Amino acid sequence: MSNITKMIAEGKGKRIYATDNPDEVVVYYRDKAFAFHGLKRGRIVGKGEINNLICEYIFSMLTEKGIPNHFIRRIDDRSSLVRRAEIIPFVVKVRNIVAGSLAKRIGYPDGAKLKNPVIEYCLKSDELEDPLINSTHVTAMSLATIEEVQLMKQLSLKVNEILGQCMAEINIELIDFKLEFGRYKGEIIIADEISPDSCRFWDEGTHEPLDIDRFRHDMGDVAEAYREVLHRLTGYVLKNSEEE
Ligand code: C5P
Repeated sequence: MSNITKMIAEGKGKRIYATDNPDEVVVYYRDKAFAFHGLKRGRIVGKGEINNLICEYIFSMLTEKGIPNHFIRRIDDRSSLVRRAEIIPFVVKVRNIVAGSLAKRIGYPDGAKLKNPVIEYCLKSDELEDPLINSTHVTAMSLATIEEVQLMKQLSLKVNEILGQCMAEINIELIDFKLEFGRYKGEIIIADEISPDSCRFWDEGTHEPLDIDRFRHDMGDVAEAYREVLHRLTGYVLKNSEEE
């Protein structure tokens, strides 16, 4: 059993605590919500608890399918034990349908189909607004080796297949998502979270977003949408529970 020692990082939607095992940390999921590189801030009541359960479900499914990731086990309502990875400072985005920043960049309407999944790399920097980079920037800046980038891309495409199929079974379209990776004992693993905070999920019938876009664009019923994703995935029905 790993015991919490001290808080080591406070991210946007999470806190990270060290444990007495140097290879493991505890992630505590918060209700705080951020958008537009921290310019918009708010709170989605119950989000921490919901995302903790959604991450448990998705990471466990990926582990079963052989996709290396940081998740070890859920500890309580808002916390999970994860492997302590050295985070790679760029993210991978995978897109199946045009939305968000891609719609702006290429001038296609939201909802336009893409003939194949689009892979993007973005530098992790709120100050620079997470600029788009490519694999030559990654190696030129020594962010990762070319082998690591290739592996991250392959793993991202596998997650796209597995998660896309899982969501399709519950009538949710996987529009796009973002992954973070880390190095752990010589291996590349998926870190951070996979939740409505980091994915675009649209109801298949209505095309209504069931994700953080509801918060970004003041669409209302944000917590309800997160709870709906959790309910369809796991069958759990959660009541509003505020963060202490
Ligand atoms: O904003 P954009 O269209 O580039 O986002 C693509 C995907 O990455 C979306 O699912 C979005 O929620 C996610 N994302 C994220 N964290 C960010 C920016 C985008 O999880 N800082």
